[in-house]
Amino acid sequence: MADIIDGRVIARQLDEKTKAQVDEMVAAGLPAPGLAVILVGDDGASQVYVRRKIKACEKVGINSIEHRLPADTSQEHLLAVIDTLNKDKRVHGILCQVPLPEHIDTRLVLRSISPDKDVDGFHPVNVGRLTTGGGGIVPCTPLGVMLLIESVMPDLKGKDVVVIGKSNIVGKPVANLLLDAEATVTVTHIYTENLPDIARKADVIVAAAGAPELVKGWWVKSGAVLIDVGITRIMAEDGKERLVGDIAFDEVQHAAAVTPVPGGVGPMTIACLLSNTVQAARALHGTATDRESLFDDAPDRTMIFRPAIAGDHSLSRG
Ligand code: GUN
Repeated sequence: MADIIDGRVIARQLDEKTKAQVDEMVAAGLPAPGLAVILVGDDGASQVYVRRKIKACEKVGINSIEHRLPADTSQEHLLAVIDTLNKDKRVHGILCQVPLPEHIDTRLVLRSISPDKDVDGFHPVNVGRLTTGGGGIVPCTPLGVMLLIESVMPDLKGKDVVVIGKSNIVGKPVANLLLDAEATVTVTHIYTENLPDIARKADVIVAAAGAPELVKGWWVKSGAVLIDVGITRIMAEDGKERLVGDIAFDEVQHAAAVTPVPGGVGPMTIACLLSNTVQAARALHGTATDRESLFDDAPDRTMIFRPAIAGDHSLSRG
């Protein structure tokens, strides 16, 4: 039987650390960290995600500031809102939920967020910092993926890791983090030839293709660690709806460990967002330690937004 890597438990551990950091800041007379969340339009899934993010802020003592804008908001107005938030000293993190309505240039909007408040880690400055060895804000889902892997495989040096998916939000940044951890990384996608053969050699598979149950049992080596980033609602044969990941969960019991869907990567994404917000606030207040400074090029692979919770392996297995 494969162990279940319980993302809810690991996320809770990270939240406790984040809350302790918030309490420390407040005790030192600093304002509590503030996260501005912008939602444009009425996309159903985005509304659910934003609600979850706002609720999670409350749990750890982060002030959330919600900006709900109608679907016909002009790009100019959205940029003006972001400009105001960039200058607002009470705001330490800014997140603009995507997808944005079609008339808005998403790349332009994401680039208009100050890199120091870009808690999503999507700004090219942070992408550049990540690809050149750290020091910036790391995107939340890739960071969560690393913490999940390291909870069961603390030393990735020399391990064969296959990433399936090449998105800017998950595949590419997670590949960079894995390289920093000295893993041997193969980035693949749904058009990769011989994908099952490549996957079968992997010690770790990170499945982030958005293709429901793409990874079959026979693609997986015995004893591999499997991280499932996908989440898709499908209609099952019994006519009921069900959430599935990119990995055929029922077929991978010969793996060493696997993340469930839901309850694996999802909770980690939000926990990492909260952590990123607090680290951004600490850096903006100048209370980060030298090793943590946002603006230093880290001399090693240490990144400030790398919460050290992965050492406690006992709590991470289901
Ligand atoms: N939409 C889906 N996931 C995300 C995320 O992590 N950040 C933002 N800004 N939008 C999203």
